[in-house]
Amino acid sequence: MSRALVTLRQVSKRFGDTEVLKGLDLEISEGETFVLLGGSGSGKTVLMKHLEGLLQPDAGSVIIDGHDLRRPEELEVVRREIGVQFQSGALFDSLTVAQNVAFPLRELQHLAPEEIDARVEAMLDLVGLRAAANVLPGELSGGMRKRVAFARAMVLHPKLLLADEPTAGLDPITTETVDDALVAAHRQLRATAFIITHDLPTAFRIADRVGLLFEGKIIEAGPPEQFRASAHPAVRAFLKDWLAREASARED
Ligand SMILES: Nc1ncnc2c1ncn2[C@@H]1O[C@H](COP(=O)(O)OP(=O)(O)O)[C@@H](O)[C@H]1O
Ligand SMILES: [Mg+2]
Repeated sequence: MSRALVTLRQVSKRFGDTEVLKGLDLEISEGETFVLLGGSGSGKTVLMKHLEGLLQPDAGSVIIDGHDLRRPEELEVVRREIGVQFQSGALFDSLTVAQNVAFPLRELQHLAPEEIDARVEAMLDLVGLRAAANVLPGELSGGMRKRVAFARAMVLHPKLLLADEPTAGLDPITTETVDDALVAAHRQLRATAFIITHDLPTAFRIADRVGLLFEGKIIEAGPPEQFRASAHPAVRAFLKDWLAREASARED
């Protein structure tokens, strides 16, 4: 087993009376794609915000690449090693695709314009969008927009990619093309990835390990085949619910 890039130990977080994380443990190995499943409101986004350092645990520790995020100076270092793809995609609609992808480079680094152009072009190649470089996001399909958001998250070559529902709102075929772009790109860049999704086919397609967040803990985590075969009642219930929702969506 390779070294852990992410280690959460006994992380607890509450908002008022709502205890969201209850002594959660998680390790993600370097280079691994970990996909997090969980019901709506189970705390997936809250957990991801702890990895970004946007939330601090009430108790427990979050260590990324050897840095303890409770220390502000270490948090600064780690922030530069993380790429985030937000739930909404959140592109700048008045900037072209290339300008959107270039944005983190301009914000964080003092690079020559030619260097920025070269890195943007390389990222757009990786997600199959080089031809759309000078187009505004509003002219793109939903799947293309997600791939732009992903390119922007990866342009600084982060060690850790965090993505919150990167395929939300896409149809199954488009989801598959986005998944494939994400997997190809992040394997090539050798990033470790923590990806939240509602979508089981996505989870099983892209994950090295799938985990389920339930009642404040990751109650099961393993390779897709193992996860699917889990006898844990919460996993069985989650898989059953998902199949039922899919069946009723097909009837509509
Ligand atoms: N900043 C906040 N203040 C108060 N409650 C919050 C805050 N962020 C999240 N919560 C609550 O934490 C729970 C988990 O939310 P979230 O992580 O967004 O769920 P999801 O699994 O759908 O991403 C919800 O009950 C939500 O209302
Ligand atoms: Mg969420």
